Amino acid sequence: MRLRSSLIACTLLAAGVTVLSGSAAVAAPTRYEAETAPATCAGTIDSNHTGFSGSGFCNADNAIGAAAQFTVTASAAGTATLGIRYANGTTTARPADVLVNGTRATGASFDGTGAWTTWTTLTLTAPVNAGTNTIRLNPTTASGLANVDALDFEVGSGPVGGNGQPNDANIQYYGRWNKSNSAYYAMGWAGGYLDARFTGNSIGVRQRNAIDLHYSIDGAPTQWRRNVSGNVTLASGLSSGSHTVRIGYRERAGSYTGDPVFGGLILASGGQTTAISRPANLVEFIGDSITVGQPNANRPFSAYPWLAAEGLGAAHTQVAQGGACLVSQDCYGMMDWFRRSSASATTDDWNFATYQATAVVINLGTNDIGHNVSTTQFQQGYVTMLQRLRQAYPNAEIFAMGVFRNRYVTETRNAVAARNAAGDSRVRFVDTTGWIVAGDTTDNVHPSDAGHVKIAQRLRPILDQYI
Ligand code: GCU
Ligand code: CA
Repeated sequence: MRLRSSLIACTLLAAGVTVLSGSAAVAAPTRYEAETAPATCAGTIDSNHTGFSGSGFCNADNAIGAAAQFTVTASAAGTATLGIRYANGTTTARPADVLVNGTRATGASFDGTGAWTTWTTLTLTAPVNAGTNTIRLNPTTASGLANVDALDFEVGSGPVGGNGQPNDANIQYYGRWNKSNSAYYAMGWAGGYLDARFTGNSIGVRQRNAIDLHYSIDGAPTQWRRNVSGNVTLASGLSSGSHTVRIGYRERAGSYTGDPVFGGLILASGGQTTAISRPANLVEFIGDSITVGQPNANRPFSAYPWLAAEGLGAAHTQVAQGGACLVSQDCYGMMDWFRRSSASATTDDWNFATYQATAVVINLGTNDIGHNVSTTQFQQGYVTMLQRLRQAYPNAEIFAMGVFRNRYVTETRNAVAARNAAGDSRVRFVDTTGWIVAGDTTDNVHPSDAGHVKIAQRLRPILDQYI
């Protein structure tokens, strides 16, 4: 160990000499050892295979989700370089999701290194916030992780420019996005959006087939561009310096068959994207047309989920579908469907490691009555849904709203009580009695824009107590 330290010291000294001779100074990365808290390892800290640094390495269990996690400090927000030192003595690659602060930033493949004593460094980049960040290596197959020795962490001194393509790491996505087509990322469910920071005096977006898109530049009131396709200019003549843009799409539902895909930003000549941070909280709303904000023209951004979360400075998603129920009885039963990437997915395909909600709000029960769901069925279904949500989001605060039409409210309350009694204390019933009256709706069921504002004003302080 002593020999190793003096070798490192020599290397540093050599780097110092280089700086003195006039080359640009390059900050050395900081090494975080896998065996040193606050790092965590879902397995054992071993030292039987030589060549590791520090006092050992993380031998995580051979299982999906058996993770190694580092806690790092970034001097500024930006794109970080992650050098993951590992060994894989097998001939099979061990893939993992790389989660930054609970959100999937990228994937990693820990390929075979030839022997458990042969260590190598896999280098990745990911956006980080200023200050403390967690970097979690979450294996996606039953073989688990490779043995993980350490993380070399460094944030670029200046902003690292991106090109605005859908896979640009500077673009932050919210909601369920299908990224399998690298040319066009597709928005699932409702209310998905993306945020980016960019330089240059204009900004546009590449679309495929016709779609209603909404956008906001530099936080200005959201505007629509309806029925647009191809290259769409959103703003020109912008001042020099950096700007922000948010883009989202009208949900594909019912007779509306727009194409809610994002084909990349169109940057001004010489313009680039730079890092933009993600809020600490992300609230996922699961519901029916009321949670989508249908049929109001300015949904999703006039609907209570968007308004309540924005009021808290939180990110948000609307995993919701017109007509949806809790129970799948000739209906989109969200107790099942919330595990999908969109309302047209055919399997439970959503990977919950893509992002972790810090809060989930459920508003379901308005439609089950029309599908003859019994009160017993509803209550049992609700308990199951709360269990599944807990599995998907181990750390989320979960809120079960009584629905405005006062249907299955006792059963909703009972389901929450059952989960509390079973030891899950972070599930709460939200009594919405009196929040809106018939005059706050467009048709006795769907809140008007003003009705949504009222609901958001009631809900926001409740969420604020817990997130
Ligand atoms: C072997 C090896 C461990 C390694 C494990 C694995 O047991 O000694 O260090 O973690 O294989 O396959 O994950
Ligand atoms: Ca192992």
